[in-house]
Amino acid sequence: MRRTALVTGAGRGIGRATALRLAEAGFDLALLALERDELDAVAEEARAHGATARVHAVDVGDAEAFERRLGACDAACGGIDVLINDAGTIRLPDDLAGATRDGWDRTMAVNARAPFLACRRLLPGMRARGFGRVVNVASTAGLRGLPERLAYVASKHALVGLTRALAAEVRDPGVTVNAVCPGAVRTRLTEGSRPDADRRGWLEPDDVAAQIAWLCGPDAARVHGAVVELADRDPLD
Ligand SMILES: NC(=O)c1ccc[n+]([C@@H]2O[C@H](COP(=O)([O-])OP(=O)(O)OC[C@H]3O[C@@H](n4cnc5c(N)ncnc54)[C@H](O)[C@@H]3O)[C@@H](O)[C@H]2O)c1
Repeated sequence: MRRTALVTGAGRGIGRATALRLAEAGFDLALLALERDELDAVAEEARAHGATARVHAVDVGDAEAFERRLGACDAACGGIDVLINDAGTIRLPDDLAGATRDGWDRTMAVNARAPFLACRRLLPGMRARGFGRVVNVASTAGLRGLPERLAYVASKHALVGLTRALAAEVRDPGVTVNAVCPGAVRTRLTEGSRPDADRRGWLEPDDVAAQIAWLCGPDAARVHGAVVELADRDPLD
């Protein structure tokens, strides 16, 4: 039986790499992001691995539009089995002097509210069917403070908190909820944040995708409520 994974933020970066890992592992896909052309390209690559891939250009920060799309995806495939909450944003400036109320609201809507809405919509079906995997893509910014990232740090702490609260509530065999917390990853999100030379040695999107795919696979069936930190340099350095 083929299972279906819904990946938000699947157009590029960590979400794209995760979608391709899951396609390789035998999942069909529902791919969500802002840019349709990027989604189309990822879907084509996923189909080369034998996956069915549907794409949905939607803003996960638009609660009504996102919830409608979640319902449609769930119905179209007879139930989403795996949910990867990857879509995320940083609005700059994000320090005490420059951060705005709109920037705060938008960051919280995309990074924290959208994963909550997706879990609320999709977890009941997973529990009823006796199989489900949720992986929330948080950040080391969900574990510690960083300067000039007020809303981002707060939103990622909220996502880690959501993961822990859900793991405490959902105690069904076959259903797991976990988070990954990568350090710095070489993606569009971090382009320009440091000179290229400083980005050498950072994580690549596929380093994170490999961990997410493992959490969705059979070897992680008993891993629940884990908040997995991925170091952006050798931890023994
Ligand atoms: N890059 C890093 O250093 C890093 C580190 C830790 C955590 N993360 C987290 O990983 C996740 C992915 O980041 P990335 O670096 O791959 O970013 P990226 O910019 O390469 O890709 C982001 C993807 O998310 C989608 N997206 C963004 N806002 C959206 C919205 N409102 N609605 C729908 N889709 C939206 C984009 O369309 C794109 O497909 C984010 O949650 C980010 O916070 C990134």
